[in-house]
Amino acid sequence: MTNDDLIQQAAAILRSAHNLAVLTGAGVSRESGVPTFRDSQEGLWAKFDPEELATPAAFKRNPKLVWDWYEYRRSQLRQARPNPGHMALAQLEAYFPVVLIITQNVDDLHEQAGSTHVIHLHGNIARNKCFANCQGDPTLIDLAQIADDRDDGPPKCPHCGAYIRPDVVWFHEMLPADAIQDARAAAQRCDVMLVVGTSGLVQPAASLPQTARQRGAKIIEVNPSDTAITPLADIKLTGPSGVILPQLVEALSTDE
Ligand code: OAD
Repeated sequence: MTNDDLIQQAAAILRSAHNLAVLTGAGVSRESGVPTFRDSQEGLWAKFDPEELATPAAFKRNPKLVWDWYEYRRSQLRQARPNPGHMALAQLEAYFPVVLIITQNVDDLHEQAGSTHVIHLHGNIARNKCFANCQGDPTLIDLAQIADDRDDGPPKCPHCGAYIRPDVVWFHEMLPADAIQDARAAAQRCDVMLVVGTSGLVQPAASLPQTARQRGAKIIEVNPSDTAITPLADIKLTGPSGVILPQLVEALSTDE
């Protein structure tokens, strides 16, 4: 069956859906120039050891190294713009009352593209918080209000003096309770889940397609490779999301 046939089949499933949930991973931002994590060679984890950089222990051990790595990733993201895949997902809002984007990504490219319902399971790299969450979880800190030399590693919390850290989920950390609760509810409620650009290896995000499927939802996966999610997919659209998703929206619109 050609990709075109599969795109038409996926569009037919979307046309009959009432409640669409979308799960995205780093792959959806790849065509915006943002590295993924596990893609061999250019993935972030190919160059850096996550245990050295994305854990509370790593931050305690070497706060300046971890802080500088996130400053480097933030500088990369400032150059990034939504790609046609992000734009297509935002255009889906014309076909459904609500399109809930459940993202593992810490960038805001879905919001920049115009998606209006985005759940960030792993936080938001543009935000910062007190490492001790001294005023409650999270104790967000606006760095613009703090005079400090950011070349000296993480600034200090103005309330308690602890280091300030990025508001992202690190390994061995809990996800924001409201985010995972809303994501699970969406997976239980949807009748179609579109899974885009994730290797499906990190829990609890990776179990959301299974949750949806157990409730009878159809799973459509968009990824150039096969992943841990592929065996669950009713339709696998193989290719980059920046190419496939606009084709899917085009197929939806031509049959009106
Ligand atoms: P990964 O790097 O594990 O997987 C990226 C996926 O994107 C792979 O399946 C690629 O095949 C696919 N991909 C690559 N280029 C693509 C393209 N142009 N279009 C569509 N897909 C493409 O990233 P995630 O699955 O998002 O967690 O990783 C999940 C979590 O692991 C991240 O959120 C992060 C990491 O540890 C935290 O930071 C807590």
